[in-house]
Amino acid sequence: MSLTEHIELEELQSRIHRARRLVVLTGAGMSAESGIPTFRDAMTGLWSRFDPAALASEEGFRADPARVWAWYVERREGVRQAEPNAGHRALADYARRHPGRLTVITQNVDDLHQRAGHTDTIRLHGDILADQWLDPCPRRGGPPCETEWARPGQPPHCNECGNLVRPAVVWFGENLPLAALNAAEAAAMGADLMLVVGTSGAVWPAAGLAARARRAGAWVAIVNPHPSEIDGDADQIVRGTAAGVLPVLLAAG
Ligand code: OAD
Repeated sequence: MSLTEHIELEELQSRIHRARRLVVLTGAGMSAESGIPTFRDAMTGLWSRFDPAALASEEGFRADPARVWAWYVERREGVRQAEPNAGHRALADYARRHPGRLTVITQNVDDLHQRAGHTDTIRLHGDILADQWLDPCPRRGGPPCETEWARPGQPPHCNECGNLVRPAVVWFGENLPLAALNAAEAAAMGADLMLVVGTSGAVWPAAGLAARARRAGAWVAIVNPHPSEIDGDADQIVRGTAAGVLPVLLAAG
């Protein structure tokens, strides 16, 4: 690290110590050091090997439910086997030391922030470990449908109406959960300082939160080993990884 980079990191540390409302927006890079692949990294990203339209859209699921379900079963297994890394733990420790000061907003569908101890993370893109019906259940308010779980290679389905179970993630073309989006926007608007960790900034509306926070007066710092699409929305860029940089930034104070 150069002397300038060292000084900038120390300045960011003291900004964090002074911040009363710290918001951290995380993307797939946050969990990369836990062994969960990102989406857009050139060689290792999921979208360099798989077609997002086929595997992460309602149309793709309806066209081939077994294929999409199998892909999510494998990804769920990867998430269950992964452990929070030093970056997740540093955030959870900071929140414990400073109750009410930190808001974590994540685009990640894994549960590593939660398992590290930060249970009130705002989840913009859903939860890969949870299920939901593909179509609204016609029995809403009535007795629950019987679900058939045991057809090998197929997603679970309703014995009566055939409705399929899908993972509770936000697919391309779908809206974000409104309560989570509202909470994220409010946090961004009220932040003194926003750290943007491990996101390419390619997916909206999450990508717009940094610019919103900055317009509302926050200092915005990006933590990412590589350039992102929203580098221009930041006051400061730290070229490093989540597990390497967050424990340093959040250590004292
Ligand atoms: P991307 O895969 O688009 O970007 C990952 C970012 O993490 C890149 O900018 C990398 O440079 C950076 N990165 C890689 N390793 C890192 C590390 N160890 N520490 C810090 N940063 C690192 O992931 P997202 O921006 O999260 O949607 O993608 C946004 C959304 O697109 C995802 O939430 C997902 C996807 O389609 C859903 O799942 C709904």
